[in-house]
Amino acid sequence: MSKVEVYITQSLIKDDLTLKGKNVVIIDVLRSTSTMIVALANGAKEIIPAETVSVAARIARGSNNSLLCGERGGKIIEGFNLGNSPLEYKEEIIKDRSLIFSTTNGTLSILRAKLSKSCVLASFLNLSKVIDYIINLKEDVTLVCSGKLNNFCIEDAVCAGIIINKLIENKVNIEISDPEFAVLKLGKILALNSGNISSDKILDMLKISEHGKYLKSVGFEDDLIFCSKVDTYPYIPLYIKGAIRLKEKIEDETNIKAAMKKIK
Ligand code: MLT
Repeated sequence: MSKVEVYITQSLIKDDLTLKGKNVVIIDVLRSTSTMIVALANGAKEIIPAETVSVAARIARGSNNSLLCGERGGKIIEGFNLGNSPLEYKEEIIKDRSLIFSTTNGTLSILRAKLSKSCVLASFLNLSKVIDYIINLKEDVTLVCSGKLNNFCIEDAVCAGIIINKLIENKVNIEISDPEFAVLKLGKILALNSGNISSDKILDMLKISEHGKYLKSVGFEDDLIFCSKVDTYPYIPLYIKGAIRLKEKIEDETNIKAAMKKIK
């Protein structure tokens, strides 16, 4: 039996040792993990999470292949190249670039997983891919809801809840406790239609969510529609040694290297 635990907000993660040695799934539906999945799928070389604006600027200094990306208050950070809307991350702008990212909640959650055994990013855009990944892992998993300004947010909880629903539906023998049971119920009520994941129900939920309403008020309503589209980006971003890259790309490179070795 494997254990599934949920942190309903990243502020409950005391320090960098809390997630040490764990298999972690970071969720920030609106919008960081959604945007990062799109950026990597559209050809960005890697994403480097940075705790603060000044750390991001320091990391970018001296690199001519990097872009400064992120938000504060949902809006692009002054002096940065891109904000945090997934619609900005077009291939022609970001292909083969290193993206130095700093956001209010999502990047902090990711940085908290620096000592984890494995760390992947999830949102509605790659949901089924992440569920399959967890099923194949056959180990304990920790789902981290990034939340909003250290508080609970409904959209991340619903995403975590769908994951748990689908693990149970796939007869994965899991042990859960109250936080997991609560998000499971939220996922069922707010995102499933007779057991099927519904992008329409998810969009309705995003529209009534606190952060969804805020993003609409500052002109990012299209991001809600975009971030509600389930399984439109079936990729797994993997956070290893300070950088986030696509698991699929890493595996391809490893296979190519192995094949080259055989030829030599
Ligand atoms: C965050 O990481 O805090 C969010 O993704 C913020 C946002 O994009 O609005």
